[in-house]
Amino acid sequence: MVYSPPSTAAEHMKLLITGASGLLGINLALEAMREHEVIGLDRGKLQSAPFRVMQFDFLRNGEIHYLLDTIHPDALINCAAIANLEECEREPDQAYQLNAEFPRGLARACAERDIQFLHLSTDAVFDGTKRDAYTEDDEPNPLGVYSQTKLAGEGAVREANPQAIIARVNFFGWSLGGRRSLGEFFVNNLSEGKTVNGFTDVIFCPMWVNHLSLTLLEMLEKNLSGLYHVVGAQAMSKYQFGMEIARRFGLRSSLIAPQSVDKSSLTAPRSHNLWLSIHKLSTDLEHKIPSFSTGLDRFYTQLQQGYPQKIRSYQQF
Ligand SMILES: NC(=O)c1ccc[n+]([C@@H]2O[C@H](COP(=O)([O-])OP(=O)(O)OC[C@H]3O[C@@H](n4cnc5c(N)ncnc54)[C@H](OP(=O)(O)O)[C@@H]3O)[C@@H](O)[C@H]2O)c1
Repeated sequence: MVYSPPSTAAEHMKLLITGASGLLGINLALEAMREHEVIGLDRGKLQSAPFRVMQFDFLRNGEIHYLLDTIHPDALINCAAIANLEECEREPDQAYQLNAEFPRGLARACAERDIQFLHLSTDAVFDGTKRDAYTEDDEPNPLGVYSQTKLAGEGAVREANPQAIIARVNFFGWSLGGRRSLGEFFVNNLSEGKTVNGFTDVIFCPMWVNHLSLTLLEMLEKNLSGLYHVVGAQAMSKYQFGMEIARRFGLRSSLIAPQSVDKSSLTAPRSHNLWLSIHKLSTDLEHKIPSFSTGLDRFYTQLQQGYPQKIRSYQQF
């Protein structure tokens, strides 16, 4: 059964979504358009998407004021980012601009126009040394350029727009290019009979991207503001995540080799424990966050129903 938040009928909103070609952006736009009007901002990757798309490159176009004054959205959801950790290490200035400076400008522009602003951040703002789950009150200590720029973005957004929602997330799902999420990584490689490594010492709380999308929409509908951990209800290692995918998709789990992240060839530093508490979120939403197994089942069902192909067909080649 598809998860739907136990709220009353959603109020119709006009939503402007940045990063509409990204893993979250495209799934969020498709989920949101069932109830709301959606306008996605894209740099030219999307064609024939079933929602309105406008071209906008933050690094080239800069100011968003004109767009906001033309579109008059009720809410802006900022899914645009440089979210590739290795790319951020190579291009720190660009990462800072996109992950911190542009969110500041968006947050301020929304505050000036009374537009709700929802900004996406990351679980990786923590250094992972805590032995328990991190709450919103815990002090972040980002390890690499990506997480440093994302934490700077949180601060910039909070300062420019105290009413904004800042959501620290981690999610999996089907993407436009078919290779963006960790879920796709395991499905793609195991389906081709390839051996992969699964990190046993990186704990995280993956959430199915459609559950995340519905939760973000509900947070807007409920007029929440401030910092929230919006991740899955279950903490697991990346190795366990791969094993769960293999089991659900009927793929060979023996192809997943348990490995320490410290022995990998990745250059950007990774935190070992990104177990985040969702107590504040479920308390304020007044219901439980859907389970990992429900999300995994839905991720599998999407494959059976041709959802990955549908998403990929929106891509401009
Ligand atoms: N994936 C995860 O599990 C995860 C975990 C923690 C936090 N997050 C956060 O969640 C948010 C969404 O992540 P994601 O995984 O969906 O990222 P993604 O798939 O990499 O998508 C990023 C989006 O940003 C757009 N973008 C990049 N540079 C841009 C520019 N100069 N102007 C306009 N748009 C630009 C990209 O456009 P192009 O397609 O044209 O490049 C793409 O649509 C980000 O804030 C990320 O930090 C994600």
